[in-house]
Amino acid sequence: TDGGSDTAKRRAGERAAEEVEDGFVVGLGTGSTTAHAIRAIGRAVADGRDIRAIPTSFQSRQLALEVSIPLTELDAVDRVDLAIDGADQVVDDPDAAARGALIKGGGAAHAREKLVDTAADRFVVVADPSKLTDRLERSVPVEVLPDAHTTVADRIDAMEGEPTLRTAERKDGPVVTDNGNLVLDCAFGRIGDPAALAATLSAIPGVVEHGLFVGVADATYIGTDDGVEVRHY
Ligand code: A5P
Repeated sequence: TDGGSDTAKRRAGERAAEEVEDGFVVGLGTGSTTAHAIRAIGRAVADGRDIRAIPTSFQSRQLALEVSIPLTELDAVDRVDLAIDGADQVVDDPDAAARGALIKGGGAAHAREKLVDTAADRFVVVADPSKLTDRLERSVPVEVLPDAHTTVADRIDAMEGEPTLRTAERKDGPVVTDNGNLVLDCAFGRIGDPAALAATLSAIPGVVEHGLFVGVADATYIGTDDGVEVRHY
């Protein structure tokens, strides 16, 4: 989305794609970093590898089709071996309790991303150094049922958050997600306790899913201009 060189993103994505083994069902996240992994998986399929993929968005589905990766669905498989997905922010402080916690949803795909990433035996985040932080502080995308956008916004206000209904540049009106819902981008400043905020947001009626991923990632592959750094959690 922003920051980060394309080389760094490509290194991270391609390294994660190397983890995809013959016979794997792999979850395909969304975004420009994951797109590099999807292309690399497409090359592995072209080389004869037996791989099936579950996309998390219209965008990743389109790319998977373009590079001829056989597709499947969450309810058609026994297991998801690996998910590869990007992030908007990653906690990279070795001492932080929330190490490896993420903010996702910059592409409004976080609801399906969370389904697939949490279903996977192993979830690898692909990122460039611009995503790393010691504390989460970006706005948290909250997908809401269309009928609930004002009541959820009121609840966020009452929590001292600042909700903004996400709008599209080339459309009059709000962004509508792949699931037909709306997105409130909710600013909370620096987030002291991501797990507590995640639980509070999940409990609000009308919230479909929020972009805080706490305790979900197993590793982060950080592409740099020199190579790839790996963090295991
Ligand atoms: C999609 O909703 C997000 O969670 C993406 O995974 C995130 O925006 C990462 O995208 P980039 O790899 O393009 O930064």
